[in-house]
Amino acid sequence: MKKILFVASEGVPFIKTGGLADVVGSLPKYFDKKEYDVRVVIPKYACMDRSFLPNLKFLCHFYVNLNWRRQYVGIFESEYHGVHFYFVDNEFYFAGESPYNNIYEDVEKFAYFSKAVLASLPYIDFAPDIIHCNDWQTGLIPVFLHTVFGDDNFYAGIKTVFTIHNLQFQGRWRIQEIMDITGLPAHIFNAYELESYGEANYLKGGVVYADYITTVSPTYANEITTVEGGEGLSGLMTARKDRLYGILNGIDYEEYNPQTDPYISVNYSKKDAVSGKKENKAALQKELGLPVREDAFLIGIVSRMTSQKGFDLIGCVLDELLTEMDIQLVVLGTGEEKYENMFRHFAWKYPDRVSANIYYSEDMSHKIYASCDAFLMPSLFEPCGLSQLMSLRYGTVPIVRETGGLKDTVEPYNEYESTGTGFSFANYNAHEMMNTINYAKHVFYNNKREWNKIVDRGMLKDFSWTSSAKKYQKLYDNLLGY
Ligand code: ADP
Ligand code: GLC
Repeated sequence: MKKILFVASEGVPFIKTGGLADVVGSLPKYFDKKEYDVRVVIPKYACMDRSFLPNLKFLCHFYVNLNWRRQYVGIFESEYHGVHFYFVDNEFYFAGESPYNNIYEDVEKFAYFSKAVLASLPYIDFAPDIIHCNDWQTGLIPVFLHTVFGDDNFYAGIKTVFTIHNLQFQGRWRIQEIMDITGLPAHIFNAYELESYGEANYLKGGVVYADYITTVSPTYANEITTVEGGEGLSGLMTARKDRLYGILNGIDYEEYNPQTDPYISVNYSKKDAVSGKKENKAALQKELGLPVREDAFLIGIVSRMTSQKGFDLIGCVLDELLTEMDIQLVVLGTGEEKYENMFRHFAWKYPDRVSANIYYSEDMSHKIYASCDAFLMPSLFEPCGLSQLMSLRYGTVPIVRETGGLKDTVEPYNEYESTGTGFSFANYNAHEMMNTINYAKHVFYNNKREWNKIVDRGMLKDFSWTSSAKKYQKLYDNLLGY
C-alpha cells in the first residue's frame, strides 16, 4: 500500500474559498483504494462549516517549536465519504472570519501549519511515502523536511510533490521576519532557494525543494515558464521544467450531477436537458426578480471577484452589450470591492437585465450552473478553472478566453464542421469578448438546433476525476520507483 498525505489550506466540505477546496475534497476519493492510502490534512479553522464539528474526533496534542515560539498543536480526525481527514487545531492561528487574513499573519500561520503537519506524523502514526503539498501555504513543507527534519530517521525517504493551483499567490515576506518565524537556517535564504526579489518566497521554496512539481492544466504548465505567465518566476519554472507536469483538474461528478442535484429546481439528464433547463431557467428568473422570459439569452457568472477573472473586460462593454433587451446576466460572487460595486451598479441601471448577487452560496451556484444558457469566464489567466467544467456538466455553454485550463477544456464551436462545446476568444480585449458573446447569442437565436448540439456535446464530455487521478497515481509510482 502506497501512503500519500495530501496537505492543503482548504478542502470541501469543511472549508472553501475557491477551486483548491474542490480539488482537495474530491480528488482523494478517486484513487485506487487497493493500492493507495490517501489521507488529507487541513487546518481546523474557527470559520469552518460548524455542522461537521460533532464528527471530529480528538486524536492527540503536542507542542511544536517555531524558532523561539513554542506552540500548541491539536490533531482531530474524521472520515468523510471514505477519505480520512486530519485537522490541525490551534485557536490562535486559525481564528478569524476567513482562512486567509493579512499576508504578515498568513506567513506565520502557514509556517506553523507546515511544521505542525510534519511534526504530527509520528503522533498520528502515519508514515507517508509521499507528501503532496498544494499552493504557497504548504510550500515550506519540503523545505522543513529537508532541513530541520533532515537528520531524523522517521522522515528519511519521504518524497514530496508540490502542486501549483495559482502562481499569482506566492507567500512573500521580509527575509528577516521569515527567519525569525521559521527558524530556518540563514544560508538557505539565497537566490537559488528561498529568496526572490529581495524577499522570502514560500512557493519558491516548495518548487525548489519538492521532488515533482505539478500544475492543474497542461497549457498553464507551459504558460508559467514564459515571462508573460510566470509571475516573476518564469526562470525558476523553466529551470524545473523537467520535473513540472500539467495534470488537468476534474470535478466531483457525484456532487455536480444535474440528475440528482438537490439544490436545483428540476433534475434533468442529457436526454431531457432542453426541457429541464427551461424549467430551471424560469425558476431562477423568478427567484432573482428578472422578467421570466424563455427567449432571453441568460448568461451566468459564478466567481471570485478579482482581476484574474477578466471583470475589467466586462466593465468595458456591458453597457454596449445590454443596449438590446435580449440578454440577461446573473452574477454570483464576492471579492474586490470595485468589481462588486460594478455589478451592483449595472443591476441598478438595468434591473430587468442584470441580477447581482454579491454573496457566497453553494445553492445559488448550482442553480446558476443548471439554469443559464451560457456561462461567461473571460479570465486574464486561469490555471485550470472548474466553473466551466461544472457548466459543461449541466449543459450550460461556456464562453471563455483561450488561456490555461480554459483552453484545454473548452473546444470552440466550428459552424462548418458542427463541432465544439463552447465559444472562445484569444486576446484579452473587451470587443473580442463582446463579438464572441454576440456570436454565441446569434447561434442561440437563429440556429437552435446547432445550439442544442453544442449543449449535447458538452454534456457528453467527461471531466470527472477518473482519468486525472490515474495520472497522479502514475506520477506517484514514478516517484517511488515502481
Ligand atoms: P478559483 O479557484 O480561481 O476561484 P475555479 O473555477 O477553479 O476558480 O473554482 C471556483 C469554485 O468556487 C467553483 O466551485 C465555484 O462554483 C465556486 N464559487 C466561486 N464563487 C462562489 C460564490 N460566490 N458562491 C458559491 N460558489 C462560488
Ligand atoms: C486556483 C485557480 C483555478 C483552479 C483552482 C483549482 O484557484 O485559480 O484556475 O481551477 O485553483 O486547481
